[in-house]
Amino acid sequence: MKIKAKPARIFSKRAVPSSNTIVPLKDRRLNFGNKWDFAPAPEDSKSYVISPRHELFIGGKFAAPNSGKYFPSINPATEQPLTMIASANAADVDSAVKAARKAYETVWSKLPGRERGKYLYRIARIIQEKARELAVLETIDGGKPIKESRDVDLPLVAAHFFYYAGWADKLKYAFPGKLPHPLGVAGQIIPWNFPLLMAAWKIAPALACGNTVVLKPAETTSITALRLAQIFQEAELPEGVVNIVTGAGETGAAIVRHPGINKLAFTGSTEVGKQIAAAIAGTQKKLTLELGGKAANILFEDAPLDQAIEGIINGIYFNQGQVCCAGSRLFVQEGIYSTVIKKLRHRIQTLRIGNPLDKNTDIGAINSRPQLEKIRALVQSGIAEGAELTQTPCALPEKGYWFAPAFLTGVTHAHRVANEEIFGPVLSVMTFRTPEEAFERANNIPYGLSAGVWTDKGSKIFKLVHKLRAGVIWANTYNKFDPTSPFGGYRESGFGREGGLQGLAAYCRLD
Ligand code: NAI
Ligand code: MG
Repeated sequence: MKIKAKPARIFSKRAVPSSNTIVPLKDRRLNFGNKWDFAPAPEDSKSYVISPRHELFIGGKFAAPNSGKYFPSINPATEQPLTMIASANAADVDSAVKAARKAYETVWSKLPGRERGKYLYRIARIIQEKARELAVLETIDGGKPIKESRDVDLPLVAAHFFYYAGWADKLKYAFPGKLPHPLGVAGQIIPWNFPLLMAAWKIAPALACGNTVVLKPAETTSITALRLAQIFQEAELPEGVVNIVTGAGETGAAIVRHPGINKLAFTGSTEVGKQIAAAIAGTQKKLTLELGGKAANILFEDAPLDQAIEGIINGIYFNQGQVCCAGSRLFVQEGIYSTVIKKLRHRIQTLRIGNPLDKNTDIGAINSRPQLEKIRALVQSGIAEGAELTQTPCALPEKGYWFAPAFLTGVTHAHRVANEEIFGPVLSVMTFRTPEEAFERANNIPYGLSAGVWTDKGSKIFKLVHKLRAGVIWANTYNKFDPTSPFGGYRESGFGREGGLQGLAAYCRLD
């Protein structure tokens, strides 16, 4: 039996009467009426078939799990089950690690870099050829708007394979005076917010350096990783070079514990990151962690305001705010506070929430019910602690997990919403007077992943970037990614870098 994704059925007519637009605010002055009511423009998804069952990918072949257990993956925009995903237990993880070890010892580490590079180029090209299908699957399984999966995620996925393909035959020039050697088998555990992109960030540099891989996607978004496994088969990547085991936290923990793993790379919650660091303490396993964040966007009075508002909106509402580097705290210089609030209030009304497969949609579905509940609970705590919520009242579909874009004002540093990762489309707005106050308050949290500075003055940018304790700092822009730039955090945001040369170093021993 084949299950076909049917986006046309995502929302009943009754749930959203005209199209997936936001219902205008009651305030008549801000009522745009039907001017913004675009006709629905759903991406074609009928041509892509999702098979009803997905097996594990071990030693170049798809195989049933030892446990015989499967769990459903659903479409978070409709709550409809899409397929059943195999649940790997410790024995499956052991088979995957053994397959990766065999491939490492017999083929991959022995292959000249230029040959490894050819496979990576081939994979990158197939990804480009299948980009539309992969984007549709990413959107159906994870809830992100098609315009993001199509225009941001997929181009970056291919770019990471191209970029690291280019390094494979030039490794001896990468670290002057030092010779890089592969580490062995890399265990990689990734989250649900950028399923394919996180797989690319991890697999491409590992393979370029001559390592083999056991990768575990997140339990709500495994479909595209398994589609990537088919691409590896198509590219004739030698068996066992990449193995994909699906399952929840227990499967991840089995990878972490396995003695045959030489290197672990994890992206996800700070809580699980800490558990992994504790679990491997005293072993020889190398570790990189990319954890949470609570980035500050610092907006000065002299910034080009309209450009800044666009960047701030993109910084917090991109992927429904489910981004570790989301600009989730906004510090506004006092003199422009009321203007900025007015502009934010105006701009969030024009964001279109609804069917993620619609090309006009700005805000898609939250990835899972637990994530939606976490967002709701944190926002409630903000209101209970005295913050004020601005949220566009709008018709949301009856089914699926939705949270309309919002921002909180009257937030103080003591509030949970100023310190904890909401991981949803909710911005916490605060004010500052001087640059010193801005960076001190921006740094006054346990995280240090990213930050943004908005000003007309280059001198202010340079002053702040030296003071901000964040791994990535954007100036007069936000959420821009490139495979050549390193990405990673300070303090509770983790350690190690992904991307660029630094991302290669994480997969090598340098002599
Ligand atoms: P999580 O950290 O539990 O999940 C991330 C990955 O780790 C998944 O593949 C999961 O199966 C795996 N995992 C879970 N427990 C594990 C264990 N004990 N050992 C090894 N692997 C394990 O994150 P979750 O529960 O999905 O999200 C919770 C919060 O974490 C979010 O609300 C958000 O604040 C944060 N988060 C941050 C991400 C980032 O990009 N830095 C990504 C996802 C979540
Ligand atoms: Mg899913």
